[in-house]
Amino acid sequence: KLELPEESVLIEEVEPEELEHEIATGKLTPSLAVASLLAMQSTLQFGFNSGVINGCEAVVFPGHTPLEWSVVVSIFCVGGLMGAFAGGHLSNALGRRGALMLASYVFLASGVIMFFAPSVAWLIFARLLVGTAAGASTVFVPIYVGEIAPPMLRGILGALSQFHLVFGILVANVMSLSLATEDGWRYLFAFTCVPAIIQLALSPWLLESPRLLLMRGQRAEAAAALTQLRAVDDVDDEINAIIDASRFEAPSRAGGVLSNLDNPRVLYGLLVGCGLHLAQQLSGINAVFYYSTSFFDAIGLEDPRMGTILVGAVNVLATVAAIYLMDAFGHKSLLLWSVGGMLVSSVVVTLALVFGAAAPAAWNAVSVVAIMAFVSFFEIGLGPVAWLLTGLLFQAKLRSSASAVATVLNWISNFMVGMFYPMLATALGAYSWLPFTGVLAVTFAGVAWGLIETRDKTIEEIQDDIGARVDRSSAAAAVSQHPGGVGGGESKGLKKA
Ligand code: GLC
Repeated sequence: KLELPEESVLIEEVEPEELEHEIATGKLTPSLAVASLLAMQSTLQFGFNSGVINGCEAVVFPGHTPLEWSVVVSIFCVGGLMGAFAGGHLSNALGRRGALMLASYVFLASGVIMFFAPSVAWLIFARLLVGTAAGASTVFVPIYVGEIAPPMLRGILGALSQFHLVFGILVANVMSLSLATEDGWRYLFAFTCVPAIIQLALSPWLLESPRLLLMRGQRAEAAAALTQLRAVDDVDDEINAIIDASRFEAPSRAGGVLSNLDNPRVLYGLLVGCGLHLAQQLSGINAVFYYSTSFFDAIGLEDPRMGTILVGAVNVLATVAAIYLMDAFGHKSLLLWSVGGMLVSSVVVTLALVFGAAAPAAWNAVSVVAIMAFVSFFEIGLGPVAWLLTGLLFQAKLRSSASAVATVLNWISNFMVGMFYPMLATALGAYSWLPFTGVLAVTFAGVAWGLIETRDKTIEEIQDDIGARVDRSSAAAAVSQHPGGVGGGESKGLKKA
């Protein structure tokens, strides 16, 4: 019997090629494809429930107050935060498969509650519940897919998962076209049951992760699952490789990163990671996905739902384009293009709002195009790169706690946009996008000035670059504090400054 610790302890940082056993296979077998697609139904649900409230404000319990609607929209993020917290623990306790199925039951139950909801309060409760399942899925799906896929396919399957997210948003937008009515909205919201039922009905094909089975000492079961996933007879090498690799894994305990803030490299990683996640959400991206229909309606677009669908469709296309761009360009340059493009688009939105009052016909098209550009620029950089960089900026032992901090910030700031954007729009009128423009301008400057390039580098190389970057800043700070002193000095000596 094989003993693998549940919470494996970091021994040292190793390069995959140093591992004794290597896995060469990178085949997308039918079992792997089916299992991944089934798991990604949960990601689709996440997207669907993010987009489903867009354009429903007037038809759902029509007598509600604006504040009640903001809560319906944004309580989803409170659930998301709770789910993300519980996710890691649940996926160990119930197994990856059990955790995914639990999320599906929660999606199902929320769909049923939304269908029968007798009041806004019940709808708010169901949105909290559905958010919990969505937040937990953001933890379960990457773990599950990462564990059943051979390393070579992880990138492409990760991209496929992001695709399900944006596709879910688009599905919600398209269904709203006919169902966002006083009679139809219950069917629209309850649609979340359908992917859940599909996933549960086909759950025999949702094979348990071989890695989890090994963690539990079930080598025979792990080998059986892996044999199906890889469609080969002999999986011994890969089983051994998994055992090898797990010796070097990070403990999944949180808090690690926060107790290392006196280390300038950790501080740098955390500032960049947190800054990018705050920027991702405070850029206003979800103001679009939650409220674009009301936005287009307010500017007098003849068919506001069509505007939203166009934005959703372009968003899906940009996500596909991003898969290629991520391979071709550095992370920093993609971020600069992305944030710069969003910045310009947000200024155009403001111009359209300011001048649109006088000449709506001409400016309405400009608004729609500007918002399409805004989401496209998001999907090629700030969207995916924020998540990606959080994984690259830390040594293995701090990676999971850094991700935990970033995820918390991401959901909190997502909540703030969902909750307060409508008030902002009322208070600032035509200037309601300026706060987003401000965030994007600061982000652009911060990325240009402070970010190191991370593409095609090992974790060690990135750590070295961070060290050099931090030294340069400390040297500059020392010079500005003591202008009379010698310029810069030995960077080593200034490390602690
Ligand atoms: C990112 C964001 C999420 C947003 C989505 C849109 O994953 O984290 O909040 O809704 O992109 O595609």
